[in-house]
Amino acid sequence: MRLYLDTADLGQIRELSRLGVLDGVTTNPAIVADAEKSYRNAVEDVAEIVDGPVFAQVIAAAADEMVREARRYQEWAADVVAKIPATREGFEALSRLRTEGIPAGATVVFSIEQAVLAAKNDATFVAPYVGRLDDAGEDGVGTVRRMQEIYDTYGFETELLAASIRNTTQAVALYEAGVDAVTMSPDVLEAHVPHPKTDEGVAGFEAAWGDRGSPLDERGDSS
Ligand code: E4P
Repeated sequence: MRLYLDTADLGQIRELSRLGVLDGVTTNPAIVADAEKSYRNAVEDVAEIVDGPVFAQVIAAAADEMVREARRYQEWAADVVAKIPATREGFEALSRLRTEGIPAGATVVFSIEQAVLAAKNDATFVAPYVGRLDDAGEDGVGTVRRMQEIYDTYGFETELLAASIRNTTQAVALYEAGVDAVTMSPDVLEAHVPHPKTDEGVAGFEAAWGDRGSPLDERGDSS
């Protein structure tokens, strides 16, 4: 399973990289607009500190221009995957990028039909928007679960990358579904760490140890 961070905030990427769980970073135009830098600078900066792919979304709406942007993104860093919106023009762009061997996948995906088209196109990944499906009154996690079953049935190799994850409850349900990959905001990843019982347990061990000091200071530890 791969875990990506959905942000262009370098401080948060650096901080969360220390946990040793990140497989790459996803971005979108809204995330990069928030970072107030050019898309190229955002990708270059993220690529410098991340071990793994950086996902960069095309801005154009027409297939020709999407292809042009995705090609150019390849020059920005060593491991860039182009995100192509799952529109009619987008599927055409995906098909052409496949022919050129440029890594690219379908994003802003809301239906099983779109996920099947992406897989048939040998897309590198497909990104269903779980939170936004829920916002629209649908079952985001349930939709991803059905996509995963279909992908498994046909042996599609496209990575099913669940996106727009709003909380750890959705994340855990996606893990249970055996999804290939998830991308989440720094907040949702941070929320994976704490548990009140862990804090309570650690406090109990500290109290039991009392003022005995570091175990490395004990007699008998000769290193
Ligand atoms: C996916 O890669 C998108 O960047 C992202 O997950 C969209 O999520 P949102 O619904 O929180 O904007």
